[in-house]
Formats: sequence, structure tokens, C-alpha cells
Amino acid sequence: MHAERPAISALPDLCWQRLEQAAATRDDPWHTPAIANLNGDGPQMRTVVLRAVSATGRTLICHTDTRSSKARALTADPRMCWLFYDPQTRLQLRANGSAELLRDGEFAEQQWHSLHAGSQVLYGQHGAPGMPLTEGQSAGRERQHFLTVRCHIEQMDWLQLGRQAHWRAALHWQAGQWQAQWVNP
Ligand SMILES: Cc1cc2nc3c(=O)[nH]c(=O)nc-3n(C[C@H](O)[C@H](O)[C@H](O)COP(=O)(O)O)c2cc1C
Repeated sequence: MHAERPAISALPDLCWQRLEQAAATRDDPWHTPAIANLNGDGPQMRTVVLRAVSATGRTLICHTDTRSSKARALTADPRMCWLFYDPQTRLQLRANGSAELLRDGEFAEQQWHSLHAGSQVLYGQHGAPGMPLTEGQSAGRERQHFLTVRCHIEQMDWLQLGRQAHWRAALHWQAGQWQAQWVNP
């Protein structure tokens, strides 16, 4: 696909529209981004499902288990980075922000109820993620292990690979609005 370079002023809205589309579309390559953060030993990353997006709130949402190592690490250091890449359009986005971990409250409740029963059961496994497997334990739906990660995005890095040129833009949330500028790819 041959991509046109958008107007720089249109870029923040385009990023958020693309993210909203990804959250709503299961087979969109941006539906399963990688998230990275720091734990005591260094950087760690893994794939998650992009569950929801708020363009006006500037937030990206995923779910995880309260007992996971990422939940522990994000409690200690909430900084995180999201990586999206679409090989069809050759568009990469990196989004950096700070994680808010929600166990209770209206939004977390809404997120829990948005899950199919099959997904809720994943939070009922007997042992914590990453711990040795014990056989013969039954799983139920366990709301108590369900964690909503709401990440408040402050910066984005947009990279469009083109046939003849690549275009990259840096976006920062500053003084109540998105500032975007072209940078060298
Ligand atoms: C396609 C795909 C989607 C995934 N989605 C999630 C998710 O939404 N939340 C999650 O906690 N783990 C998800 N995982 C599993 C994580 O990648 C990871 O293996 C697990 O959460 C343990 O990570 P941690 O030890 O860093 O906490 C997904 C894995 C794949 C392959």
C-alpha cells in the first residue's frame, strides 16, 4: 500500500482514530500490541489485547491478572510503553505513559462485565501466572484476580514506512494539547 504523508496537524487525531479502530477489531494487527515496562531486573515486554481506547481521556486499556509479574512491576514503577505495528500499511506507533491499576470501581467493573465467560475463567486459575503448574485444580471466574490497566499517554512516536521515504513524527501532550512535529526517521 502506498501511503501519503498526512498533515502534521491531523496526526494526533489520526493516531487516536487508528487506536480506536484497533480496539474494536479483533483481527487488526494493532489489536494485540506489545507493552514494555521496567521491573527490578531490567526491561520486560509481552503481548496484550488492546481492550479499550479513550481519545479524549488519552488512555489505552488492557487487562491482566493481579498476581502477574507485570502487575507487581507496574505498582512499583508505572511507566510503560506500547508498541503497535501494522505490516500491511507499514505503520508503527509507540505510545508512552503511566499506568493506573484499577481493581475496583465503576470502570473496572464495566471492564470485567465486557469479558466473555471464557475470558473471565482465565482469572480463576488456581496458581499465579508464571508459577509452577499444579495439575487437577479447577478454575472458576475470579473477579478478585482481575486488573484493569489504564495507561495515561503522554508521548507518541509515529513512523510510516514508505516506498521512497519514511516519515516519523514526535507527539507530546503539552499545555492541554497534542504538539506534533516531523523528525528525522
Ligand atoms: C495474542 C496474545 C494476547 C495476550 N493478551 C494478554 C492480555 O491481554 N493480558 C495479559 O495479561 N496477558 C496477555 N497475554 C499473555 C502475555 O503476553 C504474557 O505471557 C503474560 O501476561 C505474562 O506476562 P508477565 O509475566 O510479564 O506478567 C497475551 C499473549 C498473547 C500471545
